[in-house]
Amino acid sequence: MSTAVIETDRLSKRYGSSRGISDVTLRVRRGEVFGFLGPNGAGKTTMIRTLLDLLHPTSGSARVLGLDSRRDSRAIRARSGNLPGDFAYDERLTGRELLAFFAAVRGRRDLGVAQALAERFEADLSRPLHELSRGNRQKVGLIQALFHEPELVILDEPTSGLDPLMQEEFLRVAAEQREAGRTVFLSSHDLDEVQRVCDRVGIVREGRLIAVEEVAAMRERALRHVTVRFADPVSDGVLADVPSVEHRELDGRTLRFRVRGEIDGVVKALARHRVEDVEITRPTLDELFLAYYGRPS
Ligand SMILES: Nc1ncnc2c1ncn2[C@@H]1O[C@H](COP(=O)(O)OP(=O)(O)OP(=O)(O)O)[C@@H](O)[C@H]1O
Ligand SMILES: [Mg+2]
Repeated sequence: MSTAVIETDRLSKRYGSSRGISDVTLRVRRGEVFGFLGPNGAGKTTMIRTLLDLLHPTSGSARVLGLDSRRDSRAIRARSGNLPGDFAYDERLTGRELLAFFAAVRGRRDLGVAQALAERFEADLSRPLHELSRGNRQKVGLIQALFHEPELVILDEPTSGLDPLMQEEFLRVAAEQREAGRTVFLSSHDLDEVQRVCDRVGIVREGRLIAVEEVAAMRERALRHVTVRFADPVSDGVLADVPSVEHRELDGRTLRFRVRGEIDGVVKALARHRVEDVEITRPTLDELFLAYYGRPS
C-alpha cells in the first residue's frame, strides 16, 4: 500500500497565459508535516486549490488520500480539513454557528475538539465573524480545519495574522497532528516557521518545485548570519580557523560572519572570549534560493 497521502504527477495550472503552477511532481507521506515554501506569487494557493479541486488542472494529475482529486473531490473534502488563504464565509455567523455548519456538511453531530482548540487559541466562538479582528477570524478558520480531527489537513498560510504567541500554539498543534499519525500540508513564506515544524519542505518558486528536502538537511545547507560583540579587543584572526565560518568582517570589537553548516565549532571558539552580545539570524528566502538555485530570486 502506498504511504503517499498527496501524490501529484506533473500537475500544472495556468491562468490563461499567466503561470500558476508548472509540472509539480510531489509525494507527501502519511504522518508528516510538509511545508510548501515560497514567496508571494510562487503558486502556493494555486497548488492547494488545485489539490482540492477548487481549480482544475490544466494538465497532470493529483491523488489525495489515494483518491483522484477531480473524480473523488467530495470524498477528499469530507476526509480532510482545509484552511483557505482567504478564509471568509457568511460573516453574520458566530464562530460556533460556522463550526456547526461545517459539522453538518461533514456529517457530524458534534463539534469534536473545537472547544479545546478555542481555549488554546483564545478564540471567541460566540461573536459574529464580522466583529472579530483578522487574527481572531483566522483562529476560527484554523479550528474549522481541525476540529473533526481529519487524517489530512491542508492549510494555506495558517499563521497569517496570528500574533507570535498564537503562532507558537499553532506550531504545537501541528506537531500534535503528526504525533497522532495525521498528515499536515501547509504553505508558508516563512523559512523559520517551516524549519521549526515541518519534517520536509518543498521549495516553490515561479510556479515550479525547485527542491524537496528534509528540514534537517536544509539546516545543514543554509547559512546563518552571526554578529558577535566581544567585551575585549580581539585579534584580526579571531575565528579564522573555524571551517564553517565565512565572510568574516571585524569592526572594532564587533565581528560579523556567516556560518555554513555546523555551528558547534563557532560556539566552542567563541567560548574562549568574553562575549557581550551575540545575534544569529537565519537566511532570507532569497539566500535560500541562492543555495538551491545558484542565483537569487
Ligand atoms: N485568478 C487568477 N488569474 C490569473 N492569474 C492568477 C490567478 N490567481 C493566481 N494567479 C497567478 O498565479 C501565480 C501564483 O499565484 P498564487 O496565488 O498561487 O501564489 P501564492 O504563492 O499563493 O502567493 P501569496 O504568498 O501571495 O499568497 C501568480 O503569478 C498569480 O499572479
Ligand atoms: Mg497564497
